Amino acid sequence: MTERKTPRIVPLVDLRSASLRTPAAAFAADTQIVATGLLTDTQQRPLRDLRISVTDRCNFRCNYCMPKEVFDKDHQYLPHSALLSFEEITRLAKVFVAHGVQKIRLTGGEPLLRKNIERLIEQLSALRTVEGRPLDLTLTTNGSLLARKARALKAAGLQRVTVSLDGLDDAVFRSMNDVDFPVADVLAGIEAAQAAGLGPIKINMVVKRGTNEHQILPMARRFMGSGIVLRFIEYMDVGATNGWRMNEVMPSAEVVQLIHAELPLVQLEPSNPGETAERWGYADAAGQHDQALGEIGVISSVTQAFCGDCNRARLSTEGKVYLCLFAAQGYDLRALLRAEASEADLASAVGHIWQGRTDRYSELRSALAPDAGSGMRRVEMSYIGG
Ligand code: GTP
Ligand code: 5AD
Ligand code: SF4
Ligand code: SF4
Repeated sequence: MTERKTPRIVPLVDLRSASLRTPAAAFAADTQIVATGLLTDTQQRPLRDLRISVTDRCNFRCNYCMPKEVFDKDHQYLPHSALLSFEEITRLAKVFVAHGVQKIRLTGGEPLLRKNIERLIEQLSALRTVEGRPLDLTLTTNGSLLARKARALKAAGLQRVTVSLDGLDDAVFRSMNDVDFPVADVLAGIEAAQAAGLGPIKINMVVKRGTNEHQILPMARRFMGSGIVLRFIEYMDVGATNGWRMNEVMPSAEVVQLIHAELPLVQLEPSNPGETAERWGYADAAGQHDQALGEIGVISSVTQAFCGDCNRARLSTEGKVYLCLFAAQGYDLRALLRAEASEADLASAVGHIWQGRTDRYSELRSALAPDAGSGMRRVEMSYIGG
């Protein structure tokens, strides 16, 4: 045991404009936590999945994420100096991996807008899990730049991509991205990703009742048998700007029913503990899963919370760790990095942050009024990524 003091982790007020003021010293720990790959939180949940936001910018204005009225021409994005550099990201990623992370997802905003993102991918793809295996290295994109970038991403070491796509009808798609972006270009991006071997490809469709529910069946028909896994996501009350209302949520159970009535489905076992999506396979005439037809997923964060084994940490563009998608506070690791903390100090800080984690927002949602308790604005999804 050393002489140093009990760790004092100071949560940061999550106002984007607030200065990043967690002093590095606040993370200095007397019980230094060493990374063993076995870190767990207060609910015995391991740390397995790290989502890294590489930019807070996006060229789309999906109403459920970056509504135009809020993210307008006067919106202040982070200045370049606030962003973690690729070297800083990789240094932190290494620490998370040493604590047990197996999967890294790059997100945004739109991650392909970050200049030279391939260089970061090269650095991250060189990391190995505690067991010595390559990471599951993936990226969530709106697909707008994918046709141009798919091959370079693959060459840099990216394994797979997840593409957001909220409908096949061009008018619906243009109105949902709210920048008049044509659906054909995203479909071309998906094809380019397939051709480049960035699979298994997943497609995420956020379903908003009254907006795109009539796109569910066309999407299911289109991607059945394509090798692509289509996932339907319940519209969530994430962030503070999208004007979320429960009556715009279409419960996943209804989505499954709707598809099953035309294209019979059978429920599949989860492929990983802590998975977000419930899996359903297309059935053959005998009612068995037909592998050739593939599967869909439903992500039911509103109607069926999956916090119980949530193993995801999120690193914001400017280096704050968030322990929940719905958190109002992050922990400033950039301050530590830039105060020249040692690897051991970084590992200890991450260890303390995760060990103290209690977050299970979706489970508590029904019992909580929005923003109850904190009095603070929840962080935006475009800032910490999906
Ligand atoms: P895969 O390994 O590709 O299956 O990744 P994933 O299941 O983690 O999925 P992805 O990152 O594509 O997330 C899909 C969507 O699920 C996100 O865009 C969010 O809408 C939602 N989601 C992901 N993680 C969480 C989470 O921890 N909590 C909640 N409430 N929703 C989440
Ligand atoms: N509800 C559900 N999913 C959302 N996303 C962004 N905002 C929301 C929301 N309000 C997810 C979508 C998108 C990814 C980038 O973030 O899945 O594909
Ligand atoms: Fe951009 Fe994705 Fe948010 Fe749409 S959901 S505004 S594409 S970050
Ligand atoms: Fe994890 Fe928070 Fe989502 Fe629950 S609401 S699954 S704790 S990120």
